[in-house]
Amino acid sequence: MSSPYKGLIDRYRSRLPVSTDTPVISLCEGDTPLIELTNIPKEIGTSARMYVKFEGLNPTGSFKDRGMTMAISKAAEEGARAVVCASTGNTSAAAAAYAAKAGMTAFVLIPEGKIAMGKLAQAMMYGAVIIQIRGNFDDGMGLVKRIADEAPVAIVNSINPYRLQGQKTAAFEIVEALGRAPDYHCIPVGNAGNISGYWMGYSEASGCNTASCTLCDGNCPYLDQPLTQARPRMLGYQAAGAAPFMRNGKVENPETVATAIRIGNPQSFALAKAAVDESGGWFDEFTDDEILAMQKRLADREGIFCEPASAISVCGAVRDIENGRIGDGALVTCTVTGNGLKDTDIAIQQCQKTGDFITIDAELDAVKSAILGRLN
Ligand code: F0G
Repeated sequence: MSSPYKGLIDRYRSRLPVSTDTPVISLCEGDTPLIELTNIPKEIGTSARMYVKFEGLNPTGSFKDRGMTMAISKAAEEGARAVVCASTGNTSAAAAAYAAKAGMTAFVLIPEGKIAMGKLAQAMMYGAVIIQIRGNFDDGMGLVKRIADEAPVAIVNSINPYRLQGQKTAAFEIVEALGRAPDYHCIPVGNAGNISGYWMGYSEASGCNTASCTLCDGNCPYLDQPLTQARPRMLGYQAAGAAPFMRNGKVENPETVATAIRIGNPQSFALAKAAVDESGGWFDEFTDDEILAMQKRLADREGIFCEPASAISVCGAVRDIENGRIGDGALVTCTVTGNGLKDTDIAIQQCQKTGDFITIDAELDAVKSAILGRLN
C-alpha cells in the first residue's frame, strides 16, 4: 500500500535544510494542482499553453503554507515558543495555523481595515493574537524587524530564510508535472519573497548549470541530479498603485483593491530584481479594474476562483501573449497564489454590478421564465 502524502518537507527532504532532529510541523501543504487553461487561450487565439499553479488549494488557502511549514518547523527545532509576523492577511493565516499545530503562540501585525475578512477570520479562529496597527504592511514589517530584539519571538515573514526554502518547492512540483521547466513563469509580486523562492527552486531544479546563477556560489547541492536543463523567464506583476519595481524604488502610500499585495517597500527587492534580470524576464503593472476583470474571467471561463492579487499573474500572461512579448507555442505557468473565498466582499460587490442575480417569488412559473429568459 502506498503511504499518504505527508506534506512538502517529507516530499522534498533531501532538498531542504532539515535534519532528523527537525520536528516536522505540517498540514499536508503543497502538491497543488497545475491546471491547464482551456477557454482563455482560445479566446485570445494563442497556441501558447497556459497553466495555473493553483496555490489557493493549500490548507489555509494560499502559497504561504509552503514557507510556513518550514519556518515553524525550524522555529520548533530552535525551541521557539512564539512567532511574529506582519501581514496583509495570508501570512497571518498561515502563521496562525502552523503555530496552532506546533503549540506556539502567533502574534500577527495587520494593517487596520485593510485585510480581507476571510483572512482575519482564519487568524482569529486559529488562535493568533491579532495586533491591528494604524499603519500599512510596510510599517508593520519595520516594527516586526525591531521587536525580535526586544521580545522572545521568532520572525516568520519571508525575511526568515526558511520561508523561501519552503516556497521554492512549488517550482519543483511544476517541473515534475511538466517534465521540464516552463518558458515563462508569471507571478504576482508584493513583498517579493515568492518570486525569489521560485527562482531559487527553478535554479536548483536545473542543477544551477548556468553561469549567471548566484544563489549558491557555484556549489549547487543538486548539480548531480538536475530535474531540468533550462530555467524560465520570470515575469513579475504588480498592482499599479503598489508597484515599487516599476518605479524602481519605494512607494510611500501603496493603494490597491488587491490588498494582499498592497506593499510599497518589498523586503526581497534585490533578490526579486536579480531573478528577473538573470532570467531575462520583466516586471509590469495592472490597474485595479484590470485585476478585477481577470479575477472574474478566471472564475467564469475557467472555474478557478482566486483572490484579486492572484489574478494578476494571468493578467500578465494574457497581455504579454496578446502583445507578442510571449510567443506562440510557448509554455507558460502562472502562480495563482490565494483562494477567492478569502475575500468574498470584493467578489460579491463586482458581481452585483454585472446583474446575473435575480430575486423572484417561490413559484414554478417565475423560475421557468427566469431560466428560459436567460437561455434565449
Ligand atoms: N498573492 C497573495 C494572495 C499574497 O497574499 C501575497 C503576499 C502575494 C501574492 C505576494 O507574494 O509577498 O511573496 O511577493 N502576501 C503577504 C502576506 C505579504 O502578508 O500575506 P510576495
